[in-house]
Amino acid sequence: MPASVVLGAQWGDEGKGKITDLFSESADLVVRYQGGNNAGHTIVVDGERFALSLIPSGVLYPNVTPVIGNGCVVDPRVLLEEMDALSARGIDPSRVRISGNAHLIMPYHRKLDAVMERYLGKQQIGTTKRGIGPAYMDKYSRFGIRVQDLFDPKIFRQKLDVAIKDKNKQLTKVYNQLPLDADEIAEEYLGYADRILDHVTDTSLLIWEALRDERQVLFEGAQGTLLDIDHGTYPFVTSSNPTAGGVSTGAGIGPKAIDRVVGVTKAYISRVGTGPFPTELHDEIGEQMVQIGGEYGVVTGRRRRCGWLDAVALRYAVRVNGLTDIALTKLDVLSHFETIKIAIAYDSLGERYTEFPRQQRVLYNCIPVYEEHEGWQVDITGVRSFAELPEAARRYVLRIEELAGVPITTISVGPGREATFHRP
Ligand code: GDP
Ligand code: IMO
Ligand code: MG
Repeated sequence: MPASVVLGAQWGDEGKGKITDLFSESADLVVRYQGGNNAGHTIVVDGERFALSLIPSGVLYPNVTPVIGNGCVVDPRVLLEEMDALSARGIDPSRVRISGNAHLIMPYHRKLDAVMERYLGKQQIGTTKRGIGPAYMDKYSRFGIRVQDLFDPKIFRQKLDVAIKDKNKQLTKVYNQLPLDADEIAEEYLGYADRILDHVTDTSLLIWEALRDERQVLFEGAQGTLLDIDHGTYPFVTSSNPTAGGVSTGAGIGPKAIDRVVGVTKAYISRVGTGPFPTELHDEIGEQMVQIGGEYGVVTGRRRRCGWLDAVALRYAVRVNGLTDIALTKLDVLSHFETIKIAIAYDSLGERYTEFPRQQRVLYNCIPVYEEHEGWQVDITGVRSFAELPEAARRYVLRIEELAGVPITTISVGPGREATFHRP
């Protein structure tokens, strides 16, 4: 098996960190291909909790080389803090490899992210305010500063001087903010160079060599399918491509290298920030999902909006990613409910939709068509095989599988590494 992908099939926070960690046991390289420290991936090992934002979830295994690909945006301060935090817990971050072509998140990106959101008022996206969108904007407008620029102070300063002129105009004239000081930024960022230099390499070549030598490469998506800039619920999305197509461009490998694409989906669904969400629950059940599922953002601490599993959206994720199989997480959270629902279609503006609608107006007016399933209402956190699950839980899993059209090969019943089983 050359390369596998683990990515989110919903609006993020599906449990990608946990599933990536599990699959990392047999991986040589674990590669992030998009996003930045807007991601918050949680791994729980022997009761110890790790929350990673930028460094791939494979880092906990000493055999793994964690790679931050060219498609990512890197806030160097956050990167170093995360490496230090890992070191302090006895995990060696010296193995982390970073693409010199990845773009830097600059202080003006963070500031612009915050003020642009304020400017949008009621239309705001509810971003993580980590500067992700503005950093990708600069990448595409070719104003970006890349990781490799840190090692050439003259070029860094030239690029910074061009960018800062434009950014300070925006900050002061459009958003009524104080300008930022280029000297201060240069001093801070060039000060990071020494510590980052040893980690920077041609990651595309590194991955290619691993594939050539038949070593295992695992790609870890951040965010999720419905937050994809092209395939998500635009404009309430992130600024990169978490979907499978993003792997090729974001890591610099050909699409034929990938032969497995695992979509991580919760047994229900959640979303942070604003934007359409057909199965959102505003009632006591939604509140219970938040409380029982611990649905608070890893990065921003925001309460996640929760609702029943949306099979229309899941089928869409299967299609746009070419999912080969599904990892189903947080099945244990549903143990508390007497009745469990799955949305199998939407009604909107007088029509029934069984495919995910691409028109914003249709999506906003969607009323889910639910089918109801009997709950199991017993604790399943100790279950370690499909056969051990209560019959109602097995039926629920099999129904999701049938609706998705691809097998559910991994089931997670608790946050810990051990609370998982595979289905052949
Ligand atoms: P990610 O961004 O996709 O990696 O997901 P997050 O880490 O943001 O959110 C998932 C949360 O659910 C974390 O707190 C995990 O520890 C937790 N989690 C993962 N799988 C399970 C599971 O099967 N059951 C329960 N109860 N919690 C889980
Ligand atoms: P992981 O990898 C859930 C959401 C934000 C906002 C939108 C745009 O942990 O699943 P951004 O800061 O990216 O410009 O914000 O995307 N968002 C996430 N939601 N999980 C994430 O990451 C997210 N990363 C961004 O809440 O709605
Ligand atoms: Mg998360």
